[in-house]
Amino acid sequence: MPNSFESILLKSKQVFDSFFESYTAKLFSPKTRITEACLYSLHAGGKRVRPIFVINSFFEPNDLFSSEPFDTHQSVFLAALAVECIHTYSLIHDDLPAMDNDDTRRGKPTCHKQFDEATAILAGDTLNSLSFQLLSMMDANDPNLLRDSIQILHQGAGMTGMILGQMEDIEEEKNPSSNARESKLESIHEKKTGALITSSFLLGNRLRADWKEREFVLTRYAKEIGLLFQITDDILDVEGNLAELGKTPGKDAKAGKLTYPSLYGLEKSKLLRDQTLGKAISLAAELPSLHNEFFLGLPKYIAERKN
Ligand code: IPE
Ligand code: IPE
Ligand code: MG
Ligand code: MG
Ligand code: MG
Repeated sequence: MPNSFESILLKSKQVFDSFFESYTAKLFSPKTRITEACLYSLHAGGKRVRPIFVINSFFEPNDLFSSEPFDTHQSVFLAALAVECIHTYSLIHDDLPAMDNDDTRRGKPTCHKQFDEATAILAGDTLNSLSFQLLSMMDANDPNLLRDSIQILHQGAGMTGMILGQMEDIEEEKNPSSNARESKLESIHEKKTGALITSSFLLGNRLRADWKEREFVLTRYAKEIGLLFQITDDILDVEGNLAELGKTPGKDAKAGKLTYPSLYGLEKSKLLRDQTLGKAISLAAELPSLHNEFFLGLPKYIAERKN
């Protein structure tokens, strides 16, 4: 009897949350201003989709429902926490006055509003370096695994991934390019959001014995999910409300950001979103797995989310 997408999503969030609660209590001690700021942003909530991608790229759904999976597979959870740390750092820095200048994140004051700018910058830096430390704590039976995992995370987060995407997003806001804006936009979205999402799928997959067989299709699938995720984020910035989103809507238009709605209008953005959703579903069907309910159900969840 296959598990439904919803039950897998719920279970993987539960197992991550339970690991997160017990592990971060030890990790962020003793209590200092910097550990407090990190915990403030990490604990502020969030959908935890990237850890959920790590977990589901490793586990077959049935194994997820077995007894505590993090007792036997701690490496998967360390990798999941590593991507959530990078992601949370990217949000703390994204919200700074020098970047998007946002006051609300995950339904609470942004890190620099709650603390101050210097603390927010340092909390982001802390979470960034911590994520590589977490990877170093994975089971090291296979030395290539550690090397590959560090490279996968760096590719998503670093100067050719998220950071480059963020740089181009800001440059485009300050100095809009006059031509090829369609491909520029897709490329910004793939880097600022898609690259870390791709790392999340690949990190979980790399821990599997059969990782090589799945890597090619999974990478293509992850790329579509990343693009779908950011197109949806752009649409939510136009259509969402503060209470549901947990962040202020309408910011992109005010800042003059290059987004799907600003370039194509809302209607065509939704069409492009649905095309990307269709591509992701076809790629999920190609994944070499008997149990791909999670991968098949995910695109719709991403496109229909309200926050
Ligand atoms: C927000 O990411 C930033 C983007 C890359 C669009 P999420 O929508 O995953 O934010 P949380 O983690 O749920 O707060
Ligand atoms: C964020 O893109 C991408 C990141 C790397 C954080 P946005 O600037 O659109 O994200 P939100 O809308 O503030 O969450
Ligand atoms: Mg931004
Ligand atoms: Mg932003
Ligand atoms: Mg946004």
